[in-house]
Amino acid sequence: MSQDNDLHDVAARIEDLRAQINYHNQRYYVLDAPEISDAEYDALMEELRRLEAENPELITADSPTQRVGAAPVEAFGVVEHHTPMLSLGNVFSEEELMAWYKRTAALAGEQGFDFTCEIKMDGLAVALTYLNGKLVTGATRGDGYRGEDVTSNLRTVRSVPLTLSGTVPPRLEVRGEVFLSRDGFRRLNDQRAGEGLPLFANPRNAAAGSVRQLDPRITSQRPLDMFVYAAYAEGDNLPDRHWDRLEEMKRLGFKTNPYNKVCPSIEEVRDFYQEMLVSRESLPYEADGIVAKINSIPLQERLGHVGREPRWAVAYKFPPVQGTTLLERIEINVGRTGSLNPYAVLRPVSIGGVTIRHAALHNEDDIRRKDIRISDTVIVQRAGDVIPEIIGPVISKRTGNEKEFHMPASCPRCGSDIVRPPGEAMHRCTNAACPAQALEKLKHFVSRGAMDIDGVGEKLCAALLDAGLVQDVADLYYLADKRQQLLEMERMAEKSVARVLDSIEQSKGRPLDRLVFALGIPHIGAQTAEILAAHYRSLDNLSEASLEELQAIPSIGPKIAESIHAFFRQEGNRRIIDKLRRAGVRMEEARTPETAELPLAGREFVLTGKLESMTRPQAEERIKQFGGTTGSNVTRKTTHLVAGADPGSKLDKARSMDVTILSEEDFLKMLEEEGRT
Ligand code: IVH
Repeated sequence: MSQDNDLHDVAARIEDLRAQINYHNQRYYVLDAPEISDAEYDALMEELRRLEAENPELITADSPTQRVGAAPVEAFGVVEHHTPMLSLGNVFSEEELMAWYKRTAALAGEQGFDFTCEIKMDGLAVALTYLNGKLVTGATRGDGYRGEDVTSNLRTVRSVPLTLSGTVPPRLEVRGEVFLSRDGFRRLNDQRAGEGLPLFANPRNAAAGSVRQLDPRITSQRPLDMFVYAAYAEGDNLPDRHWDRLEEMKRLGFKTNPYNKVCPSIEEVRDFYQEMLVSRESLPYEADGIVAKINSIPLQERLGHVGREPRWAVAYKFPPVQGTTLLERIEINVGRTGSLNPYAVLRPVSIGGVTIRHAALHNEDDIRRKDIRISDTVIVQRAGDVIPEIIGPVISKRTGNEKEFHMPASCPRCGSDIVRPPGEAMHRCTNAACPAQALEKLKHFVSRGAMDIDGVGEKLCAALLDAGLVQDVADLYYLADKRQQLLEMERMAEKSVARVLDSIEQSKGRPLDRLVFALGIPHIGAQTAEILAAHYRSLDNLSEASLEELQAIPSIGPKIAESIHAFFRQEGNRRIIDKLRRAGVRMEEARTPETAELPLAGREFVLTGKLESMTRPQAEERIKQFGGTTGSNVTRKTTHLVAGADPGSKLDKARSMDVTILSEEDFLKMLEEEGRT
């Protein structure tokens, strides 16, 4: 009797624990809003596990403890789909979208309709069947009619509810996409790299591979996620609008994509596409387009499908960002600081309307890790404006003639030894006078954010080095003595020589932070240079700073301090600085500490649009010279907006606030007047 009572209590406690855990799973995995700490959650799980271990007869298949995965199955069983799992027709342009709409509207006749727009997730489609609120089968799409039984695997997906709460149809089938986030994918591949396992090419393959694992215990370790995009029920007691069905699914505990949106017209479908195209790269998962679905289920049924494609829905695909091509060879670019940067020379391939010829390869370890070989067919990925990247080789295309890449033992430009400093992934050329380094250093020195020497671009830098007219950056300031030799260079007439010499002369007065940045001290960006210039106020002070002193500056870490300290102790660098000084390059902070007395003190300027008479950095410099400050956005602190040609939204914002708006002409006039006073 008392034993029965105990068992009764235990069963009740188990039920209670399962309910709590399911609730917290939902908060955590579906709503992203946990209410308890991980430790508290673990304690609940631990207690449930213990009670179930002591009372194995109380274990049920839908217990949250069973998510860890049942024993491996030999092969997957077959699941017959109640209604076929259709695919989608694709459109690739606005014209095609409009053509689809016209056709559909003609078929719909008088009846007007609206849409639900969804993100087209790049994962794999699955169907989940619930009987009386309990998950009984999970299946892949297969051929659309018959899929694989992957129930044990899908049970391990945290956002798949095992039991549904509230009133549920006796038989409910939901369909959706199982996927891996970019982050989850990266972590998974990192882990595999560490274990020496082959890497997954992309999140979709990784998700598909994980769902089709024979051992569910492995699936349970993969951070899979699922968004539901369709629901069907026996007797059809679900809402008769697609959007409302998705809302209903959300209430039942499923995860739906928060970007889903009702679009009343096809124009709004187009706008949704445009918005998503822009946000695409910042989504935490990969998406390959949007899906527009007619909301009315009765209309959906009336329209039906052609072949496997429903007439009531369409996928509007994003331009592809991946392609495959031949990796012809691996070349090495020597950076400003002597780093050897390997890159792939590809057989040109068009990806998303852009021809790709090169891709970054980072370093030797990375090439090894991805098992990329010369003559491999490789998967190339383009992401926005960043340098294209090689995802990996297409192993099935290997012929056996591919060659592994090895870093050369000497610098490909100057033949000097190369080293790989301990703890670094990069190989470096040991020759400070390496011509490749010299070119990169020169290019950096004259660049916009550095000394901003107009008219001296990459070609001229290379030509000057080739002609032996400059050997290092300081030689630029002695070119006036070599006028005749300059005139003898290709494309250098009297006028261009005068212009080049003039901009070199002008650059002598650049503020100290520009000079510090231009020197190309390893690890020193424009921002750090600004901090250093403000702190030391002269290059001499900076060059004499001790390691301890440098490290004491907030935001200067040990690595940066080390780099600065070492830079100023190198004989070659000291010589260059000396030459710069003798040429009359400014080495002191020009801005006096008493900026408060300068004419533009207390005023904050924001620049927008294109200026005719000067570059943006030049304009900012002028403002600073007069004691003003500059900001990148219009805020309450902004006092003036300088609007050049084609101003952006900053102008509208400035107009709505108490900001003085200046045309370029007004701005120049103001500078001239302030200059006189
Ligand atoms: S609806 C009858 N909605 O795209 C409509 N599919 O090309 C069937 N997919 O196999 C699909 N996100 O794997 C739909 N929001 C979404 C989707 C989506 C991704 C995939 C799904 C399907 C394929 C069809």
